Amino acid sequence: MNPTKKVAVVAGDGIGKEVVPVALEVVRATGAPVTFTDFDWSADRYLKDGTTLPSDGFEMLGRDFDAVFVGAFGDPRVKSNVHAKEILLGMRFNMDLYANVRPVKLIDAALCPLKNVTPEMIDFTVVRENTEGVYMDMGGVFKRDTPDEVATQEDISTRKGVERVIRFAFDYARKHGRKKVLMADKSNVMSYAGSLWQKVFKQVAGEYSDITPQHMYVDALCLQMVREPQSLEVIVTNNMFGDIITDLAAALQGGLGMAASGNIHPGKTSMFEPVHGSAPPLAGQNVANPMGAILSAAMMLEHLGLSAEAKKMESAVAAAVREKKLTSDVGGTMGTKEVGQWVRERVG
Ligand code: NAD
Ligand code: IPM
Ligand code: MN
Repeated sequence: MNPTKKVAVVAGDGIGKEVVPVALEVVRATGAPVTFTDFDWSADRYLKDGTTLPSDGFEMLGRDFDAVFVGAFGDPRVKSNVHAKEILLGMRFNMDLYANVRPVKLIDAALCPLKNVTPEMIDFTVVRENTEGVYMDMGGVFKRDTPDEVATQEDISTRKGVERVIRFAFDYARKHGRKKVLMADKSNVMSYAGSLWQKVFKQVAGEYSDITPQHMYVDALCLQMVREPQSLEVIVTNNMFGDIITDLAAALQGGLGMAASGNIHPGKTSMFEPVHGSAPPLAGQNVANPMGAILSAAMMLEHLGLSAEAKKMESAVAAAVREKKLTSDVGGTMGTKEVGQWVRERVG
């Protein structure tokens, strides 16, 4: 059997095209047995020929690759954002990557906007449901373009979808030596979806006697994330709440430039990407922070069973933070490529 892992790479748009090559160079420097195959799915391609990805694209990724590494999508020239929806949300939905895992880890107190915080105090993970909710884009418009216009946007939660992501969060907690799983919802207002989440959370929690289940309303959780982040271990929540709280969580660890994620379906080809977007105003200037992409690539290696290489990458990023070998968003003076080169040399 060939132990080399095959990774499909879709750098996408804007700063995605800058941070992805940097992250891949760092992976190469670890000596990890990984090969990369690039795909040009992006705004550029869409503007050139009107296509987002081939019709068998998702099937091909699942069949021919062990993992997918993605940059970011979004380009001011594509107002509808159709390519981002088809490619990024397309991967999450069509490849059934139901758990969006977003670790929130402060590497150095200097990166955190909160006062009197030590790195140990910010170390939790958000498990965001990734295939349902308002992201299913179900709804409609009535009396369009009239004073009586009505818009509906449905929020879908299925029992199977809720159960599998909650179970994933408990399994994740167990695997990572965590003792608490907190489910965040808005069941005081969203009574139908809320009671499904509540019921299933209690049922699944009953199977994990070693882990304490907790619940918070998502608005109160936002306060808690800022006031008492040290109380948090694993959070599980729906797609939209997970999207929103992980930008807040990113701020706790130094900003979007530092935040990593994995879109996971255990046993299937999974996808890894920085949490940030394409940041059009920064694109092409060699100023984007590549750490979120590097840490996402480390998550990918860990997922592929290449733990030693993943650890090397994480320690090199931590060293760069300590030694201020950083881009300006996190208080440094270096460019994207220069930070990448420093981390690469450290890893090598
Ligand atoms: P964004 O993440 O691109 O930027 C938000 C803020 O964070 C900006 O101030 C930006 O300068 C800063 N930032 C983000 N990444 C950074 C990095 N690596 N280094 C330094 N600073 C960084 O989000 P936005 O501005 O809301 O959206 C821009 C475009 O990206 C939109 O088209 C949006 O839809 C898209 N988007 C895509 C993804 C994705 O592909 N996963 C995620 C979020 C947003
Ligand atoms: C994210 C992004 C995406 C989302 C957008 C670009 C569709 O904000 O990955 O967090 O909402 O999931
Ligand atoms: Mn987001």
